[in-house]
Amino acid sequence: MSVKFAVLGHGVVGSGVVELFYKNKNSIEKRAGTEMDVKYILDLREFPDSPYADKFTKNFDDILNDDEVTAVAECMGGVEPAFTFVKACLEKGKSVSTSNKELVAEKGDILLQAAKEHNCNFFFEASVGGAIPIIRPLHRCLAANDITKIAGILNGTTNFILTKMYNENMAFADALSLAQQLGYAEKDPTADVEGHDACRKICILSSLVYGKHVYPSSVYTKGISDVELCDVAAADVLGYAIKLVASVTKLENGKILPSVMPTLVSYDNIMSGVNDVFNAVLVYADGVDKTMFYGRGAGKLPTASAVLGDVIEAVKHNVTVFSQSWESVEDNSFVESIDSYKSRWYFRVPVNTVIEDVETYEHENGISFVISNELTFAEAKAKAEKLNAVAFIPVME
Ligand code: HSE
Repeated sequence: MSVKFAVLGHGVVGSGVVELFYKNKNSIEKRAGTEMDVKYILDLREFPDSPYADKFTKNFDDILNDDEVTAVAECMGGVEPAFTFVKACLEKGKSVSTSNKELVAEKGDILLQAAKEHNCNFFFEASVGGAIPIIRPLHRCLAANDITKIAGILNGTTNFILTKMYNENMAFADALSLAQQLGYAEKDPTADVEGHDACRKICILSSLVYGKHVYPSSVYTKGISDVELCDVAAADVLGYAIKLVASVTKLENGKILPSVMPTLVSYDNIMSGVNDVFNAVLVYADGVDKTMFYGRGAGKLPTASAVLGDVIEAVKHNVTVFSQSWESVEDNSFVESIDSYKSRWYFRVPVNTVIEDVETYEHENGISFVISNELTFAEAKAKAEKLNAVAFIPVME
């Protein structure tokens, strides 16, 4: 018997799924324990020169109504029509593997429930960290732990831009354009630059680890558009790299505090050395102390690797994997306000600002920058206003 699967979307990731599948078909089939083949590729565009031209369809119902198709890879992106298609597949008992962060972050609870009700799986390893195995390790390998914090570089495009700015003095716009050419950026790169993509990913990790759906709208999110070359240079003088860090902390009051912010990461922290399109996820937990996952966070074959890994899992498991799920919520009252986020803070202030009670003071190239002692976000914001600071950024040791 040969298991047939369909691929929804033939963009960067979807085409990578088909390419990687046929490249490694023999070993994939050995690992799956069965012959496999792609039966359909759904895309509204024409691909007359594709070696798989006979597999293309523009009609989703061809896939939905074909009982031979038991697994689906969703690589379309966006909430609709992906949500409608994925839900319909799950309701027919077809397992779905997705790379679509927005879909999982907005609708993951509903889709996990649909999978449970129809005894199939909704897998999303590719939705966080590209090639990095992080979803399955969190709910399987680390299942014995109390996870107290996750902090990660979860967006390849912004990490690529920050690295190019720092290493090559490249202008922001040029670095972004290169990231787009390399297939790293979202269709609308605002989602990368303003932190929305990283926000969706920390929502997915938070939901998985803490068991309740965390909506992106409840997470304080700041991107890198206000980070200037002078901040990158100042941070370096102080012994830090600037990274877009997405994190979630479990608080003593039972709530969680997720956020996305540019962050000064100490050169003593292994995450400071994570460059280019690479992502890293640090998991802090009582059993393991801390453990780090590292790899390419975006790109055609790295992301396809995670999607296909899930398709193979789906083929091997004909029952729902219950450990990989979370509950729906009425509201996000278990998400703590950013105001209580505690950190030391970097401030970029006008030259000649008189500053007291700060730990460090440096002055270079006409810019003054200081690092405060530990303050809450609310206190740091008030201090930034008092100092007329142009930027205030948390510090991570
Ligand atoms: N635009 C995303 C990134 C793609 O740059 O990380 C991978 O999710």
